[in-house]
Amino acid sequence: MAEFDVIIIGAGPGGYVCAIRCAQLGLKTAVVEGRETLGGTCLNVGCIPSKALLNATHQLHEVHENFEKMGIMGAKPTVDWAKMLGYKDDVIGQNTKGIEFLFKKNKVTWLKGWATIPEAGKVKVGDEVHSAKNIVIATGSEASSLPNVTVDEETIVTSTGALTLKSIPKSMVVIGAGVIGLEMGSVYARLGTQVTVVEYLDAITPGMDAEVAKAFQRILTKQGLKFILGAAVQGAEVTKAGAKVSYKLRKDDSEASLDADVVLVATGRKPYVAGLGLEALGVEMLPRGQVKTDAHYATNIKGLYAIGDAIIGPMLAHKAEDEGMALAEIMAGKHGHVNYGVIPGVVYTTPEVSSVGATEEQLTEQGRAYKVGKFSFMGNGRAKAVFQGEGFVKILADKDTDRILGAHIIGPMAGDLIHEICVAMEFGASAQDLAMTCHAHPTYSEAVREAALACGDGAIHA
Ligand code: NAI
Repeated sequence: MAEFDVIIIGAGPGGYVCAIRCAQLGLKTAVVEGRETLGGTCLNVGCIPSKALLNATHQLHEVHENFEKMGIMGAKPTVDWAKMLGYKDDVIGQNTKGIEFLFKKNKVTWLKGWATIPEAGKVKVGDEVHSAKNIVIATGSEASSLPNVTVDEETIVTSTGALTLKSIPKSMVVIGAGVIGLEMGSVYARLGTQVTVVEYLDAITPGMDAEVAKAFQRILTKQGLKFILGAAVQGAEVTKAGAKVSYKLRKDDSEASLDADVVLVATGRKPYVAGLGLEALGVEMLPRGQVKTDAHYATNIKGLYAIGDAIIGPMLAHKAEDEGMALAEIMAGKHGHVNYGVIPGVVYTTPEVSSVGATEEQLTEQGRAYKVGKFSFMGNGRAKAVFQGEGFVKILADKDTDRILGAHIIGPMAGDLIHEICVAMEFGASAQDLAMTCHAHPTYSEAVREAALACGDGAIHA
């Protein structure tokens, strides 16, 4: 008899959520994790620590930019970097210990160490071999490398090194205007670092609704970030003074370089499955390094599944969590399901940027007849009270049926506001359904309702 019903490899958001749900459904569950703490990249060196630093530096920005406007006078605080990093570490600790508590509460066994899969149904951790009816690969992803760029995590860093810099750099070059580049670029820009973002494409945040991306770039530029777009980075090297990044402008092939104290490489992530022994096991992989799975997360090996960043789809913690829950239910003989059409995306800058469903560009490409309801936060009393009138809510709805097809928000609490639209989309709601729902005043969410109204007879405060 197998020792466990399920062994999950990796305790990130995909793995730990899958484990808790498995245990709740009565499966005897173990998780293999080699880090000292649970929570994976997200809790240890990703989502959570970056949000702590985004919060701290946002508060600093408020003190310097907005306090006097509100009549709060007095000496301006300065940054104790070691203490700020300590606060971040404390936030990490609270969260990782929280997962440990949940494992104990749900009787999930933590097998400490790095796993290999010597044969189907077996997981080796250290010298011990455990057997399981089902094995789940939830090993996540790692920063992808760039040719001629050697990361040392001190001067040339990935997001991991950017969370533990020894001091606040005077200048930073960020390679890649994706989510990591802009979130961490914002953190340092608010700390006084001169941040220059070098991006291969002609716009920031690829895949984002173009109108939102444009507004986002304008706002970030006002906050002091510099952008060099259409520039392919050719390499980066450590120099006596810091580092040098060389790039080629795509429009005319001209070459240039930038010097900076620190270089952040944020050009995407790739699945992390090294050392598991998947090749020897004969696990089918996709050309871009993901584990190939069917619609139920099953690989070609019986009893072996994969979820999260290790498989195809957006590399987002919440996508991994949802897959973890769905797979737990499937393994328990139920019907797990993830609606990939309604997965929100959020960039946690100030203002926040969020989206769900189709962009205008996608709808145009599909030749779909749609209408746009837009509302500026300038017309939202609450947003203006906190100096966040910039930005807007944009709802895209089917021209004939009024069904909501997508939504894009740039503005205060955009990352939370998006969820009422996610729920609406889950229920197949129309823009009118949202517009007819009473929204409390004064809240930011009134801007969502106004955008929904703008899909019909018009917003009130526009
Ligand atoms: P990304 O894929 O979001 O952006 C990478 C950017 O680098 C792209 O714009 C790309 O065009 C550019 N690039 C690539 N090669 C280049 C070169 N040689 N020169 C100049 N530019 C180049 O990747 P990122 O920001 O590293 O994030 C990795 C993953 O982590 C993403 O899937 C992201 O969704 C996820 N993530 C999500 C967060 C969130 O949901 N808030 C936060 C952080 C990461």
